[in-house]
Amino acid sequence: MKINVVGLGYIGLPTAITMANAGFDVMGTDYNKQIVDTLNQKKITFKEDGLEDLFFKAVDSGNLKFTTEYIDADIYIVSVPTPYDSFSKKVDATYVIKATQTVLDVCKEGSIVVIESTVSPGTIDRFIKPIINKNIHLVHAPERIIPGNMVYELQHNARTIGADDKAIGEKVADIYRQTTDGDVVVTDIRSAEMTKVVENTFRAVNIAFANELAKICSHDGMDVYEIIRICNMHPRVNILTPGPGVGGHCISVDPWFLVGDYPELTKVIGNSMYVNASMPSFVLKRTSEIMKENGLTDYKRVGIYGLTYKENVDDYRESPTLQLLEAQKEHLAEPLKVYDPFIEDDIVENQYHDLQKFLDDVDLVIVMVKHDEIKANMNLLENKIVFDTQNICDLPKAYKL
Ligand SMILES: NC(=O)c1ccc[n+]([C@@H]2O[C@H](COP(=O)([O-])OP(=O)(O)OC[C@H]3O[C@@H](n4cnc5c(N)ncnc54)[C@H](O)[C@@H]3O)[C@@H](O)[C@H]2O)c1
Repeated sequence: MKINVVGLGYIGLPTAITMANAGFDVMGTDYNKQIVDTLNQKKITFKEDGLEDLFFKAVDSGNLKFTTEYIDADIYIVSVPTPYDSFSKKVDATYVIKATQTVLDVCKEGSIVVIESTVSPGTIDRFIKPIINKNIHLVHAPERIIPGNMVYELQHNARTIGADDKAIGEKVADIYRQTTDGDVVVTDIRSAEMTKVVENTFRAVNIAFANELAKICSHDGMDVYEIIRICNMHPRVNILTPGPGVGGHCISVDPWFLVGDYPELTKVIGNSMYVNASMPSFVLKRTSEIMKENGLTDYKRVGIYGLTYKENVDDYRESPTLQLLEAQKEHLAEPLKVYDPFIEDDIVENQYHDLQKFLDDVDLVIVMVKHDEIKANMNLLENKIVFDTQNICDLPKAYKL
């Protein structure tokens, strides 16, 4: 069986690798020539623990190849971006529509097109079905893996397969069963679309609750971590950990789809998204308080540790640090100094690539991301004022959210 994975980013590439290692004949397609060239030189395009070995295994087996072309295949797996429209908050399905149109140009009758991209409920009915001009089968298989633990989750997560034709759904489920030992559940397309968005919305709302507690506690000098620790001893309470904001391609994006489609019905969800989005500015405000408390007036002596949206990954899309830098533009002429061990390219101004040099140039460090690197080198922060938004350090001069 020939599989064409379309879109070789954070989701498409691991999917192509997994399918190839399960024995399928896989062609990975991306219209970005640079990505395809890099992969064809047997170099992986992003950092993820354990993925490189699986990549080498798949390529060496001959089951995995890469091209910028769409090819004739039995199954297409579409994993292209699905941002949201910042004004309407609705899903922007443009990439999925374009990719499906190109698949339709090359695919044969009877082939199966699996949309893995996250979409809001009704997207496939509204935008994809109307462009189908051949007898093909549409399936939605939303992906759940988390960067930082992709390899484990690819092999163990339960999957949802949405298909309007049950037999086709089962056929696709059988393929996914060869890649994961988690349950593979078949439902209809609209339900599958909804489940994925609801999963990420559940996370966003619960994170917002923890973030709001952090703000309340900070306002009146209470220790939010101590309070959450004790509350979570209650048998039916499980409060998440507050943080400096939410980034990435999922939790900071997908819940907006529901807000955009159901504005009158999403008060809790909408407010949660605004609470999460307010956290980088909250960090900035706390930073100025901490500076005042320590007699520090020069923002040039303040640095941010971490640029990515979570620990130990190189994905910085929508990251809280980028949001913070955007928010500070209104107040400061010069951007704060930034360092992240996972980001080798210069993506922001005043970015450092050497931890010691960065520390030499600052007196106050805002820890935005809990990379293993900083956890293993806490001693380097001993003589600094630390604003630890991740609750990872117990130095005497560390301030918390
Ligand atoms: N990143 C995550 O953690 C995650 C987790 C679960 C689900 N998702 C969902 O998976 C989907 C893909 O996300 P991602 O993070 O992999 O995005 P990404 O930006 O990392 O990768 C998308 C890739 O698709 C390529 N592409 C776009 N249009 C194309 C086209 N028409 N033809 C060929 N290639 C095309 C781009 O060049 C890019 O390499 C999104 O819907 C996202 O919401 C992401």
